[in-house]
Amino acid sequence: MGKLDGRVVIITGAARGQGEQEARLFAAEGARVLLGDVLDEQGAAVAEDIGEDRARYVRMDVRREEDWTAAVAAAKEAFGRIDGLVNNAGILRFNELTATPLEEFQQVVQVNQVGAFLGIKAVAPEIEAAGGGTIVNTSSYTGLTGMAYVGTYAATKAAILGLTRVAALELAAKNIRVNAMCPGAVDTPMANPGLLDPDKMTDEAREAMAELYRRVVPMGRVGRPEEIARLALFLTGDDSSYITGQPFVIDGGWMAGVSVL
Ligand SMILES: NC(=O)c1ccc[n+]([C@@H]2O[C@H](COP(=O)([O-])OP(=O)(O)OC[C@H]3O[C@@H](n4cnc5c(N)ncnc54)[C@H](O)[C@@H]3O)[C@@H](O)[C@H]2O)c1
Repeated sequence: MGKLDGRVVIITGAARGQGEQEARLFAAEGARVLLGDVLDEQGAAVAEDIGEDRARYVRMDVRREEDWTAAVAAAKEAFGRIDGLVNNAGILRFNELTATPLEEFQQVVQVNQVGAFLGIKAVAPEIEAAGGGTIVNTSSYTGLTGMAYVGTYAATKAAILGLTRVAALELAAKNIRVNAMCPGAVDTPMANPGLLDPDKMTDEAREAMAELYRRVVPMGRVGRPEEIARLALFLTGDDSSYITGQPFVIDGGWMAGVSVL
């Protein structure tokens, strides 16, 4: 028996990285999953690999309300109901705050923050109609602590925690639990662009990154997307049945304290 038998979950940004691993794990645990992304070729390939009985891919830009409407319709047509959402899609831009162009700030807000808001707005009524379920938002440890040069990103990730708490309060009576994940560094193309084009990453750069994580992360390594997927599974399944409105840090101990090394 799977932990998500009978569940139908929409996962955004599921063409690669954490969203892909969430889709694969949820399907393996009995869920049927609708994968949304703007990377059509990769998203369709992941859905096909999971299998047509368990997964569908739709192109959806989380910034667009009409794409949410279409994704909800596609999930219902394919699987009959929706009782879960993982708001995973996100983008990261590095910049000094005072040098950040307004367009860049707004772009990150649109994807990370507006995307999560539109997801809750579009999917919560469907989850309610299905009798209840879960929403998992993807924040970041930068939603809880500062980090230089990611001000725009950190602002959106803190906003997601605010959204999570309010949604949890408003939706609890509808039997919908809403929680957030706050990952540290995770080995996906977002944190490790070398994964997209290994030729562009020298051995020295790779070793420098590994050394950085050895120094700053108490557990001595970057996280794996499958590890984040397992937290998403916990928050989507019944094992977390009495938990709502909370941020969950998953960072190898990075935020536990300051490093003296
Ligand atoms: N990798 C990390 O170190 C890290 C740490 C903390 C939080 N996160 C968060 O985890 C989530 C997943 O990131 P990841 O690490 O898998 O990175 P990733 O870049 O590999 O994956 C992000 C996915 O989101 C998709 N996406 C981007 N804009 C979109 C849009 N407008 N509409 C739909 N899909 C869109 C991308 O195409 C991609 O498939 C993000 O919200 C990210 O901010 C990542």
